[in-house]
Amino acid sequence: MKFFIDTADLSEIQEGLKLGIIDGVTTNPSLMAKLGIKGEKAINDHYAKIAEMVPGPVSAEVLSMSYEKMISEGQNLSSIASNIVVKIPMCLEGIKAIHFFKQKGVKTNCTLIFSAAQAIMAAKAGATMISPFVGRIDDSSWDGIQLIEQIAHIFSQYTWDTEILAASIRNPLHIVKCAEVGADIATCPLSAIQGLVNHPLTTIGIDKFLEDTKKFME
Ligand code: G3P
Repeated sequence: MKFFIDTADLSEIQEGLKLGIIDGVTTNPSLMAKLGIKGEKAINDHYAKIAEMVPGPVSAEVLSMSYEKMISEGQNLSSIASNIVVKIPMCLEGIKAIHFFKQKGVKTNCTLIFSAAQAIMAAKAGATMISPFVGRIDDSSWDGIQLIEQIAHIFSQYTWDTEILAASIRNPLHIVKCAEVGADIATCPLSAIQGLVNHPLTTIGIDKFLEDTKKFME
């Protein structure tokens, strides 16, 4: 399973890359808003910096909801760097835009997916990746991992090459569960990725080893 980091923060991306396990980046308008940058040039320049830092796919989301504007925005975004993936929300205008970009060879990530029906539609339209939001489904007392499992089962019946990008990851357990049910990618906050390293017995074991080391080291 590939690990993407879900952030637009350059220092977080830099920190994640040091682990050697980051395969890409996803951003969204809320993550971009946290940066405090304004204007198309500043936004494009920021995407260019991320795309230069990360060898893998970098999702940059369109902000318009009409087909025509999604196309013009997506063409602008994909021209920034070869590893930019155009992120498009799940809606009829978005499906049309995904179909358009599929025909042009432009990679897309269909986002804000909350059902298998939406996943099937995005895959049929030719999305490169689809982003089911695990955490937000859990937040609404449904089972986000169960949706990933359902989509993975459906996709395994056909030859669609759309990747399942599990999104809205809240914690290390989400990452493990996504791997268990066959997500292709998990896009995670840095804290969730770093949290994979933690286990109380490991901490206890390291502390004991350090304590015992003192007994024979000067
Ligand atoms: O960036 C897409 C998704 O991962 C965001 O999820 O719920 O953390 O806003 P959330």
